[in-house]
Amino acid sequence: MKVKRLHLTNFRNHEDSSIEFADGVNFITGPNAQGKTSILEGLSYVCLTKSFLQQPEKSVVRFEADTLCVDASVEKDRGTPHEVKITYERKSGKKYILDGNEVRRAADVVGMFPVVILHPGNLTLTGGGPSDRRKFLDMILSQVSKSYLEESIEYARALKQRNRVLLDGRLTGRLDLGILDAWTDALVAHGAQIVERRSSFVKEFREVFVSAYDWLVKYYETPDMIYMPSFTTGPDIEDTFFAELQRVSMVERSRGATIVGPHRDDLEFTLNGVPVRDFASQGQNKTVLVALKMAEFQCIKTKLAETPVVLLDDVMSELDSFRSASTLRSIAGLGQTFITATDILNAYAGSLNDDRQNSLPDAKVHFVKGGNVLYENV
Ligand SMILES: Nc1ncnc2c1ncn2[C@@H]1O[C@H](COP(=O)(O)OP(=O)(O)OP(=O)(O)O)[C@@H](O)[C@H]1O
Ligand SMILES: [Mg+2]
Repeated sequence: MKVKRLHLTNFRNHEDSSIEFADGVNFITGPNAQGKTSILEGLSYVCLTKSFLQQPEKSVVRFEADTLCVDASVEKDRGTPHEVKITYERKSGKKYILDGNEVRRAADVVGMFPVVILHPGNLTLTGGGPSDRRKFLDMILSQVSKSYLEESIEYARALKQRNRVLLDGRLTGRLDLGILDAWTDALVAHGAQIVERRSSFVKEFREVFVSAYDWLVKYYETPDMIYMPSFTTGPDIEDTFFAELQRVSMVERSRGATIVGPHRDDLEFTLNGVPVRDFASQGQNKTVLVALKMAEFQCIKTKLAETPVVLLDDVMSELDSFRSASTLRSIAGLGQTFITATDILNAYAGSLNDDRQNSLPDAKVHFVKGGNVLYENV
C-alpha cells in the first residue's frame, strides 16, 4: 500500500498541514520539536487507528482545540484507492471512517493498511522488560491474523475475570471455586492457542530475522531469538498449561493473581550467544531492531499479500555510516518509507556513499517547522 496524501488538523502542533508523499522514500526533516514525529503518528492513526506512542487522544489533540482530524488517501497494492478519516472530539470520543462509512471496531481495520514502525521507544524491545517483547509479537500477529487478535481479546477477558476472583478470594478469605474453574477453563483454552501461535510464528520469524541481520552487518555477529513461554510446554499445550496452574495454585491464591500464562511469556534476543539486553552496544541494539523490523516487514507482506508502509522515527542517529547506509538501502527498496531525522544530510549521506545509491527510488524531502510543512524538495 501507499499513502498518497495526509491532512492533519489540530493534531499535536499541526493546526492544518497537508502533505503529498512520494511513493518511495519520504525524508521528514527539521530541527527538534517542530512536528516530524507527529506526522508519523498521524500515519499510525491511518493504519492502526491509534498513536504508536501509545498516548490517548486527549494528549494528541492540539492544546487549544477540541477536535482533531486525520485524513488520508491510501492506495492498496492492486491500485484500489481508499479514503481514511479519523476524528476525535473531547466530548464524544473517536471515530474511524473508511470510504465514508464509520467502522465500529478498531479490530475490523487493523491489518487492512499494514505498517511497520521503528522508533526510539522500541529500544525497550531489546533492553526493557518482557511486556514490550510480548507487545511486539502481538502487534505482528494481530496484524496478520484476525483469529489471533480475537484469541488475545478473549484471553485478556478471562485473565481479568480470573484475577478478580483470585483477588476477591484473598481479600475475603472465601474463594469461589466454581467461578474460578470456569475462568481457568477459558484461560487455558485461549492461552494454549496463543502459546501455540507464538511458538510457530517465532520459529518462522527467526529465520527471516537472522538473514536480515546478516544482510545489515557484513562481519561476524550471529544473532538469535528464542521464545520463552512462562511454562514448559509439552505435546499438548492445554494439558501442560492446566497442570502448571494446578502446581502454582497455592501461590496464586496467596498473591490474588494469575502467575503463569502467555501474559508472562518472554522472548530472548542474543548476539554471538550472549543476551543483547546485557552486552550489546547502542549501535548493535539498533541493528537488531532494524533487522527485526525488516523481518516484520517480510512476514506481514507475505501473510497479508499487501506491502506495509515503513515508519522510521529518528533511526539514523547512533548508527555509523555503514550501518545507516545498509539500513537505508535495505529499507528503501522495500516499499513506501517515511524517515524522520534532524540531520537529513547525515541520513542521506550514508546512501550517497553507497554504490547502490541510484537505487534509492522516488525520494522526497519534507521540511517541518513549527507544525508547518514549509516546502517540499523533490
Ligand atoms: N497536544 C499538543 N498540542 C500542541 N502541541 C503539542 C501537543 N503535543 C505535543 N506538542 C508539541 O508538538 C511539537 C512537535 O513534537 P514532535 O514530537 O512531532 O517533534 P519532532 O519534530 O519529532 O522533534 P524531535 O526532533 O525532538 O524528535 C513539540 O514541540 C511538542 O511539545
Ligand atoms: Mg521526533
